[in-house]
Amino acid sequence: MASPALLAQVHDHRWWLLVVSFIALYAVRKIQTYRRLSAFKGPFGVGFTSFWHSWSFLTWRSHLFYKEIIDEYGPIARVGPNDLVTSSPELLAHMSAVRSPYSRGEWYNRATRYQPGKDHIFSELDEEKHKRRRQQMAPGYSGKENLSLESSIDLHVLELVDLIRTKYLSTETQARPFDFARKIQFFTLDVISHVGFGEPFGDLRTDQDVNEYVKAGEIGLTVTTVGLALGITRFLQLPLVARALGPSEKDVVGFGRMIANARPLIQKRLERETDNRSDMLASFVRSGLDADELVSETVLQIIAGSDTTATALRSIMLYLFSHPRVYAKLQAEIHATAQERKYKGVIPDSEVRKLPYLQAVIKEGMRMHPPITDSVPKRVPDGGDTVVVDGKSVFLPGGALVSYAAWPLHHSKAIFGDDAGVFRPERWLSKNLKDEKKMLEMNRTHELIFGYGKYQCLGKPIALMEIGKVVFELLRNFDWCLSNPENPWSEYNCMGIFVHSNMSVTASEQDFKS
Ligand code: HEM
Ligand SMILES: *[C@@H]1O[C@H](CO)[C@@H](O)[C@H](O)[C@H]1NC(C)=O
Ligand SMILES: *[C@@H]1O[C@H](CO)[C@@H](O)[C@H](O)[C@H]1NC(C)=O
Ligand SMILES: *[C@@H]1O[C@H](CO)[C@@H](O)[C@H](O)[C@H]1NC(C)=O
Repeated sequence: MASPALLAQVHDHRWWLLVVSFIALYAVRKIQTYRRLSAFKGPFGVGFTSFWHSWSFLTWRSHLFYKEIIDEYGPIARVGPNDLVTSSPELLAHMSAVRSPYSRGEWYNRATRYQPGKDHIFSELDEEKHKRRRQQMAPGYSGKENLSLESSIDLHVLELVDLIRTKYLSTETQARPFDFARKIQFFTLDVISHVGFGEPFGDLRTDQDVNEYVKAGEIGLTVTTVGLALGITRFLQLPLVARALGPSEKDVVGFGRMIANARPLIQKRLERETDNRSDMLASFVRSGLDADELVSETVLQIIAGSDTTATALRSIMLYLFSHPRVYAKLQAEIHATAQERKYKGVIPDSEVRKLPYLQAVIKEGMRMHPPITDSVPKRVPDGGDTVVVDGKSVFLPGGALVSYAAWPLHHSKAIFGDDAGVFRPERWLSKNLKDEKKMLEMNRTHELIFGYGKYQCLGKPIALMEIGKVVFELLRNFDWCLSNPENPWSEYNCMGIFVHSNMSVTASEQDFKS
């Protein structure tokens, strides 16, 4: 019960003055934020609220929301009081350049932190610390330390081919459709665990989601997306809250489960001699990462390196299976190569990179459906920055956040031509496009699929090695069909990472053998 004295105070006009001035101050702040970015247009009310932006994450199709608003409001559009998105390749490269004064925006990267108070390379907001961590990890990723990267990948390509041939081969008398989305994820998980932990999970060998990593990842991504959309990341990451609600190693699902699985693997490796091992983990240990940091980084690696590469392969295959003209042409190139080279086992990476049509198909498949649409907002340095976009000079106020709009960028008619929305690998062949400047522009835009400069994907060489070998060997060995073409896959986008399922296909023995 409030005391009479207190009630008297509430009625005192000085109290009201305080309330009114508080509201006025709040309104002034809102109007100031609204006006700071008012040069940039966006959906109704976007200067005052992030509602539309948040909502787009909860529809699981944020990439299409980014495309709609860029199409409507131009190459820099506004999605919130302090948030812009862009499809300008120059601006994206400028912000991530090695010596750029831009930094990371908190709302996105910080949301990916899954241990209270402990950052990994992708959630680290401090530029100096991030730079140092990259330096520690780059040697392990670059393959320059005699890592057995290629032979590890080959092993799992053979297991994948073997699994299909022994268990899922369709014949003239019996079709055996299977979910390509799931099997290809078994492959990417085996590769990433093999190169990351030194031993594969064994998903392909056992044809199951060992330790339920697939399930854990999907739940973890969904939960993270909801937290991010509701704008409660900061709250969720307060140490006490994170301990109560965040991923915990006692969890039976989600990222907590992943961490719990990773820790003993790391511990086992640290207890054994790692100095004379030549894998990624050994390289990270040599660079000075401690046990906790190793757990954080390897779990990140699994999230960053499995769904992404799997999505790239699913998309390339989906476009191939639905474009018989391209499929036949690629198959001819692959057969000719197999016949000529007569190699045993899996095609070497150095050979894959020499096949012009295969490379064009991979590039075009990744352009049609970029495997990642992470917002990865960059923060404009204090004092602001003047940039030139589409020949126009634009001032970006300090502290504003600018996100990456993958879909409109990679489907841009200005960059890729009027048929940018269509799968046509021939656009990448220099015999069809003599204009070198145009090709360079297309190349540079395409490279942004892996990010740029100081934030560029560390796993790019690994991903490209996996993709080239898998596409080659799957087409060399089998004939492929979509078995549910009216509904080829189910897809949802978790804050930029795609989750696919129900991609039903059939594979039958390819008559050609070499
Ligand atoms: C087709 C597959 C892949 C695509 C399209 C892709 C794309 C990206 C993108 C767009 C970023 C963020 C760039 C930015 O922040 O501006 C990124 C970061 C990263 N990726 Fe990938 N990635 C792929 C596969 C992989 C694989 C296989 C691994 C691990 C083996 C990996 C490890 C990483 C790491 C560690 C980072 C963080 C780098 C940093 O924070 O400095 N990625 N990737
Ligand atoms: C890698 O292997 C080569 C030849 O086997 C050797 O000369 C070189 O010292 C090795 N490098 C490292 C970093 O182990
Ligand atoms: C690494 O070195 C230790 C002792 O120096 C040895 O016992 C172990 O067998 C070696 N491991 C490998 C993989 O060479
Ligand atoms: C474009 O990229 C391809 C590799 O994907 C390269 O072979 C070609 O030389 C590049 N062309 C230009 C003009 O940059």
